[in-house]
Amino acid sequence: MAREVTEALRAQIRDELPEVAAIRDAALAAAVVEAWALAIAWSSFGSIREIPPSGNPGQMTLTRGDQTDHIRGVTRLAMRMAEEMAALNPDLAVDHDIVVAGGLCHDVGKPWEFDPENRRRWEAAPRGVGLPSIRHPAYGVHLCLTVGLPEAVAHIAGAHSGEGELVVRSLEGTIVHLSDIGYWTMALAGGLIRPETVSQKYRRPISL
Ligand SMILES: [Fe+2]
Repeated sequence: MAREVTEALRAQIRDELPEVAAIRDAALAAAVVEAWALAIAWSSFGSIREIPPSGNPGQMTLTRGDQTDHIRGVTRLAMRMAEEMAALNPDLAVDHDIVVAGGLCHDVGKPWEFDPENRRRWEAAPRGVGLPSIRHPAYGVHLCLTVGLPEAVAHIAGAHSGEGELVVRSLEGTIVHLSDIGYWTMALAGGLIRPETVSQKYRRPISL
């Protein structure tokens, strides 16, 4: 299942996630590409576009598109929120590059959690190694640290979802978390989510 990361795969990732070009630090941009390339190479997916456009496997699935639409959407929302907040609050010490890299990497663990081969294995024996054995935030941290991404980006991958309720989120992590929640909430309000996939927490708006 695990393949080598090739130059062609890196180029494909840059094409699938054009917001990588908004990262000013070239080494950081390259590490973001490396994290996604490794995530794909170590899965049975050939590209990010092959991953279904869902929040969790089978849940909050967009009526059209693929996982790049979600990753790019969250990143763009996060960039705009950071920019607009900083424009009116000059004391807000928000790191632009970490917001973009964090937005792009927040779901880098999804190729693992969504992998059909992993799903089959876990569902066949849930008490073996768990179902899933590791959720995408934790696996995302593993990938981020493996490729040498900064701790600030690994934190965003690890804390963007429910796991983040157990820690204090960074400023950039808070922005990406809100963008992620906002993405799914707005998609649901706009009729972009398949009704049979709406997860429980989005059925009770008061809990958002
Ligand atoms: Fe997400």
